[in-house]
Amino acid sequence: MGESSKIESVLKEERVFYPPQAERDQAYITSKYEYEEIYKYSLADPDGFWSERAKELITWFKLWNRTCYWDFNKPEIRWFEGGKLNASYNCLDRHLEGPNKNKAAIIWQGEPDEEVRVYTYQMLHREVCRFANVLKKLGVKKGDRVSIYLPMIPELPIVMLACARIGAIHSVVFGGFSAEALKTRIQDCEAKILITADGYWRSGKKVESKKNADEALKDCPTVEKCIVVKRLGLDINWVEGRDIWYHEAINDPDISDWCDCEEMDAEDILFILYTSGSTGKPKGVFHTTGGYLVYVTHTLQWVFDLKPEDIFWCTADIGWITGHSYIVYGPLALGATEIMYEGVPTYPHPGRFWELCQKFKVTLFYTAPTVIRALMRAGDEWPKKYDLSSLRILGSVGEPINPEAWLWYHKNVGRGRCPIVDTWWQTETGGFLIAPLPYAIPQKPGSATVPLPGVEPIILRDDGTPAEVNEGGHLCMKRAWPGMLRGVWGDPERFKQVYFSRFPGYYYTGDGARRDEDGYIWIIGRLDDVINVSGHRLGTMELESALVAHPAVAEAAVIGIPHEVKGETIYAFVILREGYQPSEELEKDLKQHVRKAIGPIATPEFIQFVSGLPKTRSGKIMRRILRKIATGQYEDLGDTSTLADPSVVEDLVRTRKEME
Ligand code: WTA
Repeated sequence: MGESSKIESVLKEERVFYPPQAERDQAYITSKYEYEEIYKYSLADPDGFWSERAKELITWFKLWNRTCYWDFNKPEIRWFEGGKLNASYNCLDRHLEGPNKNKAAIIWQGEPDEEVRVYTYQMLHREVCRFANVLKKLGVKKGDRVSIYLPMIPELPIVMLACARIGAIHSVVFGGFSAEALKTRIQDCEAKILITADGYWRSGKKVESKKNADEALKDCPTVEKCIVVKRLGLDINWVEGRDIWYHEAINDPDISDWCDCEEMDAEDILFILYTSGSTGKPKGVFHTTGGYLVYVTHTLQWVFDLKPEDIFWCTADIGWITGHSYIVYGPLALGATEIMYEGVPTYPHPGRFWELCQKFKVTLFYTAPTVIRALMRAGDEWPKKYDLSSLRILGSVGEPINPEAWLWYHKNVGRGRCPIVDTWWQTETGGFLIAPLPYAIPQKPGSATVPLPGVEPIILRDDGTPAEVNEGGHLCMKRAWPGMLRGVWGDPERFKQVYFSRFPGYYYTGDGARRDEDGYIWIIGRLDDVINVSGHRLGTMELESALVAHPAVAEAAVIGIPHEVKGETIYAFVILREGYQPSEELEKDLKQHVRKAIGPIATPEFIQFVSGLPKTRSGKIMRRILRKIATGQYEDLGDTSTLADPSVVEDLVRTRKEME
């Protein structure tokens, strides 16, 4: 929690962009009035609203007995209790009966331009069934955990859907995480199987996933088998008896093209996804089948106004929640056609994303502010080179989008025609909570705008009273929605403590926000000790623990400071142990060490060697002071009288000046 009680929003943006008139009549929600009516109804009769949506969007084997039950004090949340369904069935089987059978589900573009693979719904169904049978043959049963450490290749959604088909719980670990990070995540959920690849392309370089997997598996006794997808044909280490080639297993003539779907209860767990919090190790957030599936389809359909003829492209990695909800479950359950891309935005050139929008005639494009800023910096000439006339709606997610980046995106990519949906949500929320309905809600650059139907945000002061209009505070939710997390794997206490204790009776998001006179919500950023680097959440605790694990480090404090492209970048204050001296070499070594412990995204950009840290008498680090020091604002340190040892400030300023 920030030690300063005043939560201030410095952003004051006045411009308003109105929804386009042209395609408005064909939209799902066509006016602000219609939105308001639906919103009112959704709060007045949540059972009615959500059961209508749930029946409209999802195929159930059996309908539920009770639409929702929740009590944030316990906490306990249940949706569609007694309902039976299967996520894989909803993403695949039900599309085979109608005209979608031969429709492209996933158009996969490898990093090399000539590598394109297209899966129709029928093809995807066959592959998922076969792999589900492979898992069954290996003894995987309902409720077992399967860890997945794969890059952005079609096998990733395939194996996720295969798990869902047989009721196994998948836990995808972002392919850019280190062996160490992978290990702790596998250990925490006690996975039986790990699925990985030999390697993948990233910016023209080969990344070796299997090497990390081998390293991680040294300490993962629960893992019986490691299934390996051959992506690059690398020469890899092979553990006889444990390792299995994906292509050999799936092409086994004994494996059938058909696999029955397990009937899952609405509240059976679909997946676990680890995310960073302010304290301790990453949390295994879990989502359940019914509510999650209703929520991702509902939000995707309305916020992106997704129609059968659209080509949707979400540029996120499936290793994050955005990819789970809006590459795998949302679009496929809706029977959409989507693009999946292996590469990065700037390789081989900063026009790559626009080139692909042109190549595949993308209509709905969803990316992150960090990408927009990076591409904005590369110059207007890049989007200019391509025909972007197919685009209809643009989206943004991951962090607040600066109005400047918003306007650039609107003008240069959307050519002034496309509404921008700035979607605010979290791993925990499962899907969008605050976002404009593109043809109904006027957009203000930098604001995620208004709550979606069924969502009731409230902004609270430190003391729990509601904030006034335009007054910053803690963003909380007053009621449950179907897509919200149901728990933290193996740690119900933490679930309660992190999300439901700060303000009893509310869901606590950890974000600061204010609501303006029009009811628009402006997200200020995290108020807990979480750093947002290029839209990736990193806990300061994790970073500090990684640093302290180095033999030279006695103590460390890590903060995020503003960065033009990444949003925030990592700045570490380090106290060395006796016998160690600051040096460039040691600095490099520490950076490398963190990179190895967590992953490249966690590499500190700056390390300042200090002899003490600014702590309160109760031992809490005053990060506010560290932020000022790191950004060179020595004159304006605020009140330092509560420090246990005010003299540390001089040392902080001196060592900071030495870095200049
Ligand atoms: C931030 C990503 C402002 C926020 C889906 C949140 C945003 C955290 C936005 C969740 C947005 C995400 N505007 N801030 N449109 N979207 N955030 O769990 O701080 O990786 O709490 O989920 O990202 O990050 P997570």
